[in-house]
Amino acid sequence: MTSDDDLVLDDPVGRSLGGRHAHLARRLGRAATYLTDVATFASVSTQPDAADWADLAELLGPGAFADMFNCPAAPPPSWEPVFNLEGRQMIWSGGGHPDGPGAQSGADLVELGPDIVPDMLDLVARTEPGPFWPRTHELGTYLGIRVDGTLVAMAGERLRPPGWTEISAVCTAPEARGRGYAGHLVSALAAHIVARGDRPFLHVAETNTSAIALYERLGFKSRRQVTFRGFRTP
Ligand SMILES: CC(C)(COP(=O)(O)OP(=O)(O)OC[C@H]1O[C@@H](n2cnc3c(N)ncnc32)[C@H](O)[C@@H]1OP(=O)(O)O)[C@@H](O)C(=O)NCCC(=O)NCCS
Repeated sequence: MTSDDDLVLDDPVGRSLGGRHAHLARRLGRAATYLTDVATFASVSTQPDAADWADLAELLGPGAFADMFNCPAAPPPSWEPVFNLEGRQMIWSGGGHPDGPGAQSGADLVELGPDIVPDMLDLVARTEPGPFWPRTHELGTYLGIRVDGTLVAMAGERLRPPGWTEISAVCTAPEARGRGYAGHLVSALAAHIVARGDRPFLHVAETNTSAIALYERLGFKSRRQVTFRGFRTP
């Protein structure tokens, strides 16, 4: 870890929107957000002033949802808080290909494309792994596991700040849990990310102790606590 890594990992949304996800961004000044249906995440400068918040308000429109992800800066008081969720950021610390215990389930992994979006949205609605929209799969590679034709587990790549790729939307249908599917998917994605020269990281809610235990078993270590915040623009 270098000080550059710290800067990048503390601003994963801004550094993705300004870099490898620039083609999926809308911008005004130093404010940016993702295209509709890709993600709701928005960013301002890491040390925003009043003009940056005004730009973001104009970009999103009045009374709009401003999903600030882990941005620690407080918007002006006229921005109404919508949610506040404690979580942690974890980084892959294996240093090589993640193929340790729990990394194989024996299932076949399939790459999920645009034609699978209804199945992905259905699985997300049943499992609630975190925010996911109809075009989120455009952010990176999404892998899934089908049983008798039904999508029962998936995981994919979301934020992509320089040198890092976030693993997200990790979920398994309730009836298919405990078979190692999530472990297999996360390990395969991590191997894919490492092979590309990036390092994997992820975010998880502090209350999601079973997911945290799974990620720790797969070689992820906690880097820092984060607070996810959302607001409504004036
Ligand atoms: C968290 C979640 C993705 C785990 O999915 P899963 O496919 O059941 O995960 P795995 O099977 O790989 O591992 C889970 C457990 O099964 C165990 N397991 C793995 N392979 C197994 C096997 N072949 N037989 C029995 N148990 C097995 C693991 O050791 C692990 O044990 P634990 O209970 O101590 O954690 C799933 O519970 C889920 O979808 N939760 C809701 C969405 C969510 O919170 N996602 C994470 C967002 S950050």
